[in-house]
Amino acid sequence: MKQKFTSVFTLAFIVLSSFFTVIKPQDKTIESKIDSLLSIMTLDEKIGQLTQLSANSWEFPGKSVISDEQKEAVKKGGVGSFLNLFGAEATRQVQKIAIEQSRLKIPIIFGYDVIHGYKTTFPVPLAEAASWDPEAVEKSSRIQAIEASAAGINWTFAPMVDIARDARWGRIVEGSGEDPYLGSVMAKARVKGFQGNNLADNTSLLACVKHFAGYGAAEGGRDYNTVDISERTLRDIYLRPFKAALDAGAGSFMCSFNEISGVPSSANKHLLTDIFRKEWKADGFILSDWNSIGELVVHGIAANTKEAAKLAITAGVDMDMESGCYKNDLKDLAVGKKISEDVINESARRILRAKYKLGLFDNPYKNCNPELEKTKILTKENIAAALDVAKKSIVLLKNDKNTLPLIKDIKTIAVIGPLAASKADPLGSWEQQGDSNNTVTVLEGVKSKLGSGSKVIYSKGCEIDETGKGGFADAINAAKEADKIILVIGEGGHMSGEAGSRSSLELPGVQEELAKALYETGKPVIAVLMNGRPLAIPWLSQNVPAIVEGWFLGHQAGAAIADVLFGDYNPSGKLPVTFPIATGQVPAYYNHKSTGRPGNDTVVFSSRYKDITPNPLYPFGFGLSYTKFDYSNLTLSANKIKIGEDIKVAVDVKNSGNYDGEEVVQLYVQDIAGSVTRPVKELKRFKKVFLKKGETKKMEFTLTDNDLAFYNIDMKFTVEPGMFKVFAGTNSEELISADFEVTE
Ligand code: BGC
Repeated sequence: MKQKFTSVFTLAFIVLSSFFTVIKPQDKTIESKIDSLLSIMTLDEKIGQLTQLSANSWEFPGKSVISDEQKEAVKKGGVGSFLNLFGAEATRQVQKIAIEQSRLKIPIIFGYDVIHGYKTTFPVPLAEAASWDPEAVEKSSRIQAIEASAAGINWTFAPMVDIARDARWGRIVEGSGEDPYLGSVMAKARVKGFQGNNLADNTSLLACVKHFAGYGAAEGGRDYNTVDISERTLRDIYLRPFKAALDAGAGSFMCSFNEISGVPSSANKHLLTDIFRKEWKADGFILSDWNSIGELVVHGIAANTKEAAKLAITAGVDMDMESGCYKNDLKDLAVGKKISEDVINESARRILRAKYKLGLFDNPYKNCNPELEKTKILTKENIAAALDVAKKSIVLLKNDKNTLPLIKDIKTIAVIGPLAASKADPLGSWEQQGDSNNTVTVLEGVKSKLGSGSKVIYSKGCEIDETGKGGFADAINAAKEADKIILVIGEGGHMSGEAGSRSSLELPGVQEELAKALYETGKPVIAVLMNGRPLAIPWLSQNVPAIVEGWFLGHQAGAAIADVLFGDYNPSGKLPVTFPIATGQVPAYYNHKSTGRPGNDTVVFSSRYKDITPNPLYPFGFGLSYTKFDYSNLTLSANKIKIGEDIKVAVDVKNSGNYDGEEVVQLYVQDIAGSVTRPVKELKRFKKVFLKKGETKKMEFTLTDNDLAFYNIDMKFTVEPGMFKVFAGTNSEELISADFEVTE
């Protein structure tokens, strides 16, 4: 018996070694290589490929380690992937076990949450979306990939493309905001940036688009909460950025924690198989979220972990992140014929395919070179790119009487607030290996702009989220001594992000009171906000002369903000999310439906709250510049087109102010009457344009039938004949418009 086993293994070994040594990649297609490999894999080894374990990356800062038990599992071919294992040396050691000590030498794929940087921290994704600059965002993701790949990482759990219409939801910070079109453009840019031109390149990371799907529609904005949305809303709004990411070549998806109308994503066959596999014909693989398969029991859709594993694998989840359900239960299910082994084979195939595409079979250590790692991380080029996209992400919300930009020979300036000198908060959540010692604070940024003739006084004033006012007196004294006050307030870096939902969008703690106390001094207060979600700041908006939205801009936050404050960069960012006037106004989003009684300040029986205006504080797409842009001559190539035909739209944009500057020209469309109600407007195109002062440019756009289509009464994605409106302008509310008709 022993003899027989040995000879089977010897044979397998010979077949395999010839497979790896003789057959070159160009000799066989990936699929036939996978066929050969699968044919000699045991059931345990196949299930191993479907298993992702986490390294311990929290016990020792900057390090990640795996346990002896995990090492044993690698030797047995029981691990397809690790998450949270990073660093060229650490990954090399683990890969070495897989390659030298496991029977089939299948390389491990190392995944990590490279959300907005590995060591060089870029702006949080919501901030980057405010740049409306896909090239800058692609470059940011590219550099993040270069750094992370040099640290042995092959795979990033990004981009997060969840649409978020309720700012209470903490994870709004991880995505691109409320709009499916902007979200799709950003999703594409990030996938291209992470994956590069070819997954096999040394600097490419496999993208894992998440969280599939509907996670942002959690009831009440509470993280992990129930989602109950119609199939139409799911498709028209929430799925669009996922499809865009897939079209851009994304090689993997992560399913979400939430249920959708009764079925958790990790057990959702409709979503994972019918839509993803069959309709979209996706060949990438699907990863569960952390323990989301195990949580099927808690959801109350599986009686035990075995049922959970069965539901997940048959729904289409290929790899199990950390729950252990696949590792512990799949074998029994297959042996007991409760599931077919073919299902396991298919999942293993998809995972192996990704490993082949990444070139890991040819070079399992491709990213495990500690010497190279040192040269790729925190380079001057990376830091410069982080500064560039940080500047582009800043949104100027208010600038009365040209309060900004500030002059550089100012005599005395007070920099006040709990976030003014913070090094950690500007990194936001998912800062990963970003070291806060490398952060440029706003205080440092301001100081760097001023010469020896200027005095900078700093006072913290209060904490971010505490009630103590002991620091107010010092802050008021600083303010009284100064010509101008820069007040840096908002949320802590970890007040948004996963499990970062908040019931209130108002400024936390006593920060607004601090702002009021400083305002009382009569000195001009320039508010700089840091936050990972829209804030409800009506008092600030009505009273202080200037407001700069500074999000969490990463390591270069203070340098970027100072460039804007002192006019070295003319702000061009636009809000990717609506800023409500009060928390009670959320969900607040521009592309809402009309209702039969549209909200109106002066109409009692209209869709509004009695105590506040129906209008937001700052609309989607809003953002000022130090110059001014005028829109005129909105023209269409035709006032009637047939279904299937394109229509061209042109609009003149003039820089009529006193500075050169960039404008994001926005184009919206409204389908006036459909077989189902349509949003009051939807973003369809935008372009960023640089205009010298006095300069005018004609901006041209082409709309195709895809831009006019939607899921109609029969759930068919189609264009319906009828009247349409096209709007162009500087934000979703200040628009000029023209009409056209679509005929059969
Ligand atoms: C999050 C994911 C993340 C995963 C791994 C989960 O808790 O929901 O977004 O990728 O952890 O860190």
